[in-house]
Amino acid sequence: MRLEILRRKSREEAPYIECHDYTPAEKSETVATALTRLNAALPDPIRWECSCLQKKCGACAMVVNGSPVLACDARLSDYKNKIRIEPLRKFLVVADLISDRSVLYENLRQLRCWLPAEAEMREGAVEIGYEASRCLQCGCCLEVCPNFDPGGVFAGMAGAVPLSRLLAELPEAERGELSALYRRHVYAGCGKSLACRNVCPAGIDVDGLLVNSNAAAVWKRLLRRKKH
Ligand code: SF4
Ligand code: SF4
Ligand code: FES
Repeated sequence: MRLEILRRKSREEAPYIECHDYTPAEKSETVATALTRLNAALPDPIRWECSCLQKKCGACAMVVNGSPVLACDARLSDYKNKIRIEPLRKFLVVADLISDRSVLYENLRQLRCWLPAEAEMREGAVEIGYEASRCLQCGCCLEVCPNFDPGGVFAGMAGAVPLSRLLAELPEAERGELSALYRRHVYAGCGKSLACRNVCPAGIDVDGLLVNSNAAAVWKRLLRRKKH
């Protein structure tokens, strides 16, 4: 196989393409394994991030043939003979395949993604909480989102998913501040194109979570206003 890797020594230096002819050791080999094996033979190893190698941490998100994937989940056999590997493009590149995704955590802070009081076991909240808790904060959804820009107000699906859990778990009377944050940082910016759904490596039901959050933070409030 031909592996084309977009490399960059540091943030300041220009990117360049490095090509390698590569023979996978087995049919089911992943991009993560290929990078590891390749690096063992390279004097200047390709820098990339990983931790769990089990699709659980989101660290190894990168772009393969134009689509964001987890390197530990992407199988070489799913591609033809040429594979182009690049870092996530929405974020500043630190070096080679490593991007600075700190904006994901800044957005969680901005969205106040923590419970201000003890959560209640509410009907429907357990399923929503479980679904939302599967988010890896990998950033793949942000990579394809036409409305997300790292410096912007819109937090994208990586912010909407964790927030959906809090909106489901908090009693209505305590949801005011989070609802306002949701309207400003998610609802106002999301075009509902659902490009994010197609690339989420965790397969999260993002549209289902959006429906629940919109009901909790937008529609119920409008209906209440109409009644008065
Ligand atoms: S539905 Fe569209 S606009 Fe909304 S977060 Fe997903 S990709 Fe972005
Ligand atoms: S919603 Fe999916 S794609 Fe987006 S950060 Fe969470 S796991 Fe990754
Ligand atoms: S290394 Fe954890 S998801 Fe790939």
